Amino acid sequence: MRPRPLPVRTALLLAAVLQAAASTAAVPSSRPTVRYLADARLFVLETDRTSYVLGVNEQNEVQLVHWGARLARDSDLEPAHTREGYAFESPEGLSENEYPGWGGLRFAEPCLKVSFADGVRDLVLKYASHEIQGDTLVLHLKDIGYDLGVDLTYRVFPGHDILAKQATIRNGTTGPVVVESAASGVFSMPFRLPDDRVYRLTHLAGRWANETQIVRETIEPGKKVLESRRGTTSHQANPFFAIDEGGRADEEHGRVWFGALAWSGNWKLVVERTPENLVRVTGGFNDFDFGYRLAPGERLTTPRFYGGFTSGGFGEASRLLHRLEIEEILPDRAARRVRPVLYNSWEATEFAVDEPGQKALAEKAARLGVERFVMDDGWFGARNHDRAGLGDWTVNPKKFPSGLKPLVDHVKSLGMDFGLWVEPEMVNPDSDLYRAHPDWVLHFPQRPRSESRNQLILNLARKDVQEYVFAALDRLLTENEIRFFKWDMNRHFSEPGWPAVSPEEQKKVWVEYPRAVYAIMDRLKARHPGVEIESCSGGGGRVDLGMLEHVEEVWTSDNTEAFDRLRIQEGFTMAYTPKVMMAWVTDVPNMNGRVTPLRYRFLTAMQGSLGIGGNLSRWSEADGKLATDMVAYYKRVRPLVQEGSLHRLLSPTDDDAAVNEYVARDGKEAVVFACRHSQQYLHALPTVRLRGLVAEAVYRIERMDDRLVDKPQTLSGTALMERGLTFDLRGDFDATSVRLERVE
Ligand code: DGJ
Repeated sequence: MRPRPLPVRTALLLAAVLQAAASTAAVPSSRPTVRYLADARLFVLETDRTSYVLGVNEQNEVQLVHWGARLARDSDLEPAHTREGYAFESPEGLSENEYPGWGGLRFAEPCLKVSFADGVRDLVLKYASHEIQGDTLVLHLKDIGYDLGVDLTYRVFPGHDILAKQATIRNGTTGPVVVESAASGVFSMPFRLPDDRVYRLTHLAGRWANETQIVRETIEPGKKVLESRRGTTSHQANPFFAIDEGGRADEEHGRVWFGALAWSGNWKLVVERTPENLVRVTGGFNDFDFGYRLAPGERLTTPRFYGGFTSGGFGEASRLLHRLEIEEILPDRAARRVRPVLYNSWEATEFAVDEPGQKALAEKAARLGVERFVMDDGWFGARNHDRAGLGDWTVNPKKFPSGLKPLVDHVKSLGMDFGLWVEPEMVNPDSDLYRAHPDWVLHFPQRPRSESRNQLILNLARKDVQEYVFAALDRLLTENEIRFFKWDMNRHFSEPGWPAVSPEEQKKVWVEYPRAVYAIMDRLKARHPGVEIESCSGGGGRVDLGMLEHVEEVWTSDNTEAFDRLRIQEGFTMAYTPKVMMAWVTDVPNMNGRVTPLRYRFLTAMQGSLGIGGNLSRWSEADGKLATDMVAYYKRVRPLVQEGSLHRLLSPTDDDAAVNEYVARDGKEAVVFACRHSQQYLHALPTVRLRGLVAEAVYRIERMDDRLVDKPQTLSGTALMERGLTFDLRGDFDATSVRLERVE
């Protein structure tokens, strides 16, 4: 039955009410999300609050027409036109081409560069046809001469204001084609700014123990390259970008175009400002050392490149990404359940693990309310230090004389499930595996094999290596009741040779290796339903939307020092949901020699997926009592932290405190964490106005302690959002939390 149209007055009233509600409120569309306007040759991709419009221009090339707030009427749209050329610039080179091949008079960053079998290196892609199916549009492009096709797939996520682009390159010729660069697509800013303004780029950079630091810079003429050539996502850069109009956006306001690439291998984002002041971000496989040979009939599909728009500032951009990750990207299991509170043995025992020691830790962890006990490195082969054992995935009989079963049973009897650390992609030269198969690692014959952390990389592009790794992990899961792998990867690629295949095929390793990691993870989960995986790479070295399609959580950083962590977490949550952000409470002095109170450490770690990594045998009774209370509190608020809407109220980068609020989606509950690191000159903390609450609702205020200046029992949403809360945090590393519950 079709819904009856609303009377005009009611419809107008409703429209006014909707408009008056937050400017960022979603307005679900009753129109199809993907439409083709045949007369104007336009494709309209629409989400609840945005439109992304492509047009086929006079030259039969696909070009961006609009990307921004949702347009009210299709009739406002003009067909795509190429710009006028002038000396040294061609019309095709000046237009916002949606997927430019490297060919003709096009000098901006191309999406695709190929060499045909006859030596031709010119590619001009024109629109051929399209298909629309529900929320998906596929544009078929074809070269002007050769049978080389590109299918551009656009998937629209209407409720998330995000779309994903992906390209499939098809060799229909009779000879091999070498793909020398292949991007997933380009996101162009929809308009040129006036001369006195420039776009600003926000991205995440860092290094080991210092991941996801927020970097902001104006986009100057030329190119800014964000990339990894390390074989994996890397700690040094992350495939995420956000662009605003020259500092006009902040956490709450302003237009932000943002995106992230779903790839855990070599990646590249090129942020380019052309001489015409067009700003565009091209993203996909890194073209450095790239060369993917397509035999006749073969295809290559790029990673997905997600992009979204909001006029609600960086905070709203993050919330859109978080929700997309939970609802559309993470494996089902992660999306459906809250993350358990975890204990990890690494910082407590390092390689010195054994059955009695781990059992004792497990007992202490269980008393605090921990739900999952994870034994880290050191349990297998000759792994008494980092110089031996990787590759030999058999339980060390000296440390565990009866195998893992007694420990696993003990952990289970304590009411927890059991998790195990593995690093399946690696081998120490001092291992039985390497002695048997020295040819299994990435290497060039007659060249050095550079070691990092005393290890080499197994070439997972090889089928036999894939089978070995799968079988080793499968056996562990079959023989033991393991519910969780912490899957580590502790070095980056060097000498990426694959001598078993011909030189022309060898560079495929950059694509086939990460794909093999994904495939093994998926196979294990299919064979052992319920098993969960954490992606770790010496901390946050492999965190991206590609990995999030296969794992339930990630290890954020090896830096567990609480004050440093707050900034790492702030950057992390720009792009990734707190649900996957594993954060441990560890012992002090920690990195930097810093000593912070246990309470501050807990209130920092609780802002993601809580874990404990301290040596519990050294914790006092008072520490144990505090920890038990904190874990109990976390369990009450974790649905908000993990699945609510995050509002970053005070930044640890700009302020002397970090204050973050997490609100339930229905606005019925919220929790605020306030962590002050260093009071100076007797300054009081600024009052923080909360966000995202229901204005007319009344909330009961549950304080953890007396660190609120006023002590009201209840406050309305308006009061909390307009007058705010003032935290009375003093000295160094003082922290508190407040929980709000709607009572009226
Ligand atoms: C690096 C990880 O990030 C640490 O948490 C720990 O698992 C070590 N590897 C173990 O070798």
